[in-house]
Amino acid sequence: MATGAIRIGVIGCGFYAQNHLHAWKELAAEGAQLAAVCDIDAGKAEAAGRAFGVPSYADAAIMFASERLDAVDIVTRHDTHRALCELAIARGVATIVQKPFAPSWDDCVAIVEAAEKAGVWLAVHENFRFQTPMRHIRRVIDSGAIGTPNWARIAFRTGFDVYRTQPYFYDEERLAIADVGIHMLDLARYFLGEVERISCETQRRNPKVKAEDTATMLLRHTSGAVSVVECTYEARRDPDPFPQTLVEIEGDKGSIVVRPGLRMRVTSHGKATEEDIGSPLRSWTSQPWHVAQEGAFVACSHFLDCLKRGVPAETSGRDNLRTYALVDAAYRAAAEHRAIVPAQWGENVAASKSRRAQ
Ligand SMILES: NC(=O)c1ccc[n+]([C@@H]2O[C@H](COP(=O)([O-])OP(=O)(O)OC[C@H]3O[C@@H](n4cnc5c(N)ncnc54)[C@H](O)[C@@H]3O)[C@@H](O)[C@H]2O)c1
Repeated sequence: MATGAIRIGVIGCGFYAQNHLHAWKELAAEGAQLAAVCDIDAGKAEAAGRAFGVPSYADAAIMFASERLDAVDIVTRHDTHRALCELAIARGVATIVQKPFAPSWDDCVAIVEAAEKAGVWLAVHENFRFQTPMRHIRRVIDSGAIGTPNWARIAFRTGFDVYRTQPYFYDEERLAIADVGIHMLDLARYFLGEVERISCETQRRNPKVKAEDTATMLLRHTSGAVSVVECTYEARRDPDPFPQTLVEIEGDKGSIVVRPGLRMRVTSHGKATEEDIGSPLRSWTSQPWHVAQEGAFVACSHFLDCLKRGVPAETSGRDNLRTYALVDAAYRAAAEHRAIVPAQWGENVAASKSRRAQ
């Protein structure tokens, strides 16, 4: 990787990309250089180019041909991820791509294989595990205060109007699990480790959406721990915790409980303490989104650090296949009314079939 600033191109200048653009700008002091932006909607590309003082493009291939980029940050929707990743990988440009990684497991595997074959650094911008409260929880687990975690509930339950900023949600074929359940499943792995099997019940509580807007999942982890992983866009709660993730983890020596309001209560060896684990507000972040925006910032900061050091990201393409496999397994579990063993990359088809049949 380059020894000077890391020159980054951002592809997709829509709703969520604004957070990435601000994050890269703020990370200039750490060695990030936002070098160019691109969107097939030329108006959006130009607006972002003007706002951030960089050249703008309406075609990613032209951006790659015109700019010397060390890394590209793809913030388009999943249907475009494979083609854009392959374009970047073919040019040897380190690639970050937003979740969901791609529309299908085969697409995700093809991207990882292309990157590994070309020796190109690849990460998925899976950001919930980088949110400040989630980092605090991991710190408490690592401290040994609750002993070995053996049960958890990880929940994203809101009635916040997510359709206003993401109207495409109405027509998605896979909604709650693929969009936000994916973050909950990644957190389940982050806190409790890999997953042996998963079952799932889905609901479509809002008749205006095409797919499921609610999912309740049950995971058996390889450690023996069990977790309940929930997500819904149709909860009617006061207070509505949006966009906060609620977490409860029990271990053999204590527990961690994070309730709305970003306060974490830790019980360790019978003694309880409470601390504020809220995210800071930055000049470009605002309530209530700042919890999620901070996650995007810390994720970008982690990717920059990994790029500078030439090491894989925590959420490398290879790592994220494990989260993606849980998403696919959850949908299959809901459709087939049984627990499903998640797919593993590299497993041959016969082994995978026989494992899944168990
Ligand atoms: N991590 C999170 O917390 C979080 C939150 C919201 C969205 N997201 C993810 O971010 C991604 C983008 O979502 P969004 O809500 O910003 O969508 P959006 O529709 O607002 O923005 C996508 C942009 O990509 C552009 N685009 C499409 N194809 C392109 C191409 N080939 N080249 C260049 N530009 C292209 C579109 O014109 C659009 O402006 C999705 O994968 C979504 O899941 C993540």
